[in-house]
Amino acid sequence: MASNDLHSRHGSVMPKWLGLYYVDPIELVSGSGCWVTDQNGIRYLDFFGGILTTMTGYGVEEVVDAIRDQAGKMIHSSTLYLIEPMVALAEKLSELSGIEDAKVFFTTSGTEANDAALLFATSWRRSNQVLAVRNSYHGRSFSALSVTANPGYGATSLSPFQVFYILGGSRLRGPLAGLSDADYIDRGVSDLRDLLDTAASPNIAALIAEPIQGVGGFSMPPDGYFGAVKEVLDERGILFIADEVQTGWGRTGENFWGYQAHGIVPDMITFAKGLGNGLAMAGVIGRGEVIDCINASSISTFGGSPLVSRGALANLDYLLSHDLQENALKLGRHITNRLLTETQSNPVVADVRGKGLMIGVELCERQGVVPAPQRANAALEEAKKLGLLVGKGGIAGNVLRIAPPLSLSKEEADLGTDRLVAALEAAAAV
Ligand SMILES: Cc1ncc(COP(=O)(O)O)c(C=O)c1O
Repeated sequence: MASNDLHSRHGSVMPKWLGLYYVDPIELVSGSGCWVTDQNGIRYLDFFGGILTTMTGYGVEEVVDAIRDQAGKMIHSSTLYLIEPMVALAEKLSELSGIEDAKVFFTTSGTEANDAALLFATSWRRSNQVLAVRNSYHGRSFSALSVTANPGYGATSLSPFQVFYILGGSRLRGPLAGLSDADYIDRGVSDLRDLLDTAASPNIAALIAEPIQGVGGFSMPPDGYFGAVKEVLDERGILFIADEVQTGWGRTGENFWGYQAHGIVPDMITFAKGLGNGLAMAGVIGRGEVIDCINASSISTFGGSPLVSRGALANLDYLLSHDLQENALKLGRHITNRLLTETQSNPVVADVRGKGLMIGVELCERQGVVPAPQRANAALEEAKKLGLLVGKGGIAGNVLRIAPPLSLSKEEADLGTDRLVAALEAAAAV
């Protein structure tokens, strides 16, 4: 089927706000390792992994076999019945989380995971006041949008919470622009203290924060920022929710969880994306007493189903047994170093940043910090022409997001970087 036919059918029945990449959108019909093939048989090296979700790669035999085997036995039973793979997965996640005696609640998306964590925190603290970080993204539901500081996704200003936004986000512009790491931390923490002393009630429930902001364009505070923030939160009993939907599972290379760069242990972690390698697997890992505090019964029809739990267990085993975190560290450094060197004379590349295989390339007008979203679009289109898929983010849509599967090889890292550097040169010429 011609892609433009599917494009027009999509437009007729899908919501208008469900954005598609590319002037001529593509359908990805098959994949193997880090490669995907579109409806016309064109192959692309995938540096975005379905929004950081295809973590171990496409068609990984061990994962596919586990899913196939479980699908033949039992796809669904619901949380009204015991589910051995769900319990086994929760045991592993509890151990990996770094949170003492952690419990796990499974959901079907990152949005729903954050919604659940916010429900637990606000119930535990008996407060509907919440802190979030500027430039954040936590999902598309009513509650997740209310802690999302990104006007492009701000579908409503109504909120179940009273939300206060702490400083964080871009280091190219705004109140933290150009500051040294130490000054950034001082300024952010003193602003937080002032906010708590003047604007909020004494009983804030929680801060929700992404260790590296995903949709926000892979913006990240200096290491230790959230450690300094948490000292203030701890003085007042405020919980810390680490949204690890993008940063978990070793993607940042240095650590298994993004929060570990800040020397803290959060009260709750929310996860999604990579664990299921594309299966609808997400949830909250948190202090048992906090998760248990809900004063009513609950169920989840789909969360942690036998099928997704078996697939996630196989995927997690593959990740750990192949030490893909180490691969992310090594190849992430390699790609970042190459990009830093090879885009040095490109006047529209304003910043190359990130950790591990989570690399942001910010495009601005020549030698400045005025966002250049059209150039980012041009780079995205040119990369596609060259056989490379990358993502986009940032408040202005001017940051390219590089996040391949963690199973990437050195040859693929080099090939993708070659293509990306060429696409960025084309963007400078627009
Ligand atoms: C940090 C973060 N939290 C939450 C979400 C929402 O996850 P989902 O799209 O699975 O609902 C996203 C999605 O991109 C995300 O990046």
